[in-house]
Amino acid sequence: MLQRVRRSPSRGKTTHGGSASSADTAPIELPTPKLSVGKSLPESLRRRETVRAIGGRKLPLQVLSNLLWAACGVNRPKGPFGALGITAASASNSQEIDLFVAIEDGVYLFDARQHRLLPVVASDLRTMAIGPRQKNVVMKAPAQLIYVVDIDRLVHTSGFQEPGLRDPEVQKSYYFVDTGLIAGNVYLFAASQGLAAWFHNCDRVGLGKKLKLRSDQRVLFAQSVGYPAARTAGRA
Ligand SMILES: Cc1cc2nc3c(=O)[nH]c(=O)nc-3n(C[C@H](O)[C@H](O)[C@H](O)COP(=O)(O)O)c2cc1C
Repeated sequence: MLQRVRRSPSRGKTTHGGSASSADTAPIELPTPKLSVGKSLPESLRRRETVRAIGGRKLPLQVLSNLLWAACGVNRPKGPFGALGITAASASNSQEIDLFVAIEDGVYLFDARQHRLLPVVASDLRTMAIGPRQKNVVMKAPAQLIYVVDIDRLVHTSGFQEPGLRDPEVQKSYYFVDTGLIAGNVYLFAASQGLAAWFHNCDRVGLGKKLKLRSDQRVLFAQSVGYPAARTAGRA
């Protein structure tokens, strides 16, 4: 069970359509990211790969914090166009991709600005994040990152205004590229830390319903993260 820190609900405004049960509405404050230990960038690039055999050992909260920061955390208070800067580039700095994090306890929305997790659903949806079409995979990964686009953030970007942001085809190209940039960060972070990562399809419709997404939000992909299975044999 992750440890919760109670705080004023006024800071808990979320951009997703769902809401957690009243018993589980307190955000989880993530510890300050620590990325001082790990393989170098060249070595991480050399080791980057998809690892589908993932053990069940849970990720410590510090590791989850480091992972989410690397994925799309705030890396400078002043980014382009008056918004925060984050570790992944996005079209017009719209930051339209939300990361939902499915762990055993439930599903949380990563709030990069406050570096915390906002509860969304208090049930284990990790199997849906793998989806029914993945063959020969034993679902043990402790964390599933679920990539969700909020198209409203492109249409009403606070960033650079350009007509493409309102064109569905251009929007699609932007949000898939922006997803890939985050996923690439996750792959490299995993390689640097000796973690396993696997980017994959998922049950988009089922997850969209469970997360109670608005009509202008869409589940795109998911990414499993955990410790490589071989290392956790007998422990998971
Ligand atoms: C857009 C995209 C979709 C993918 N979907 C799946 C998937 O549904 N199932 C799966 O097992 N792997 C999936 N993968 C992982 C690729 O199969 C994997 O990245 C590719 O075989 C290259 O292997 P590598 O990542 O180890 O270099 C996907 C990767 C990408 C980029």
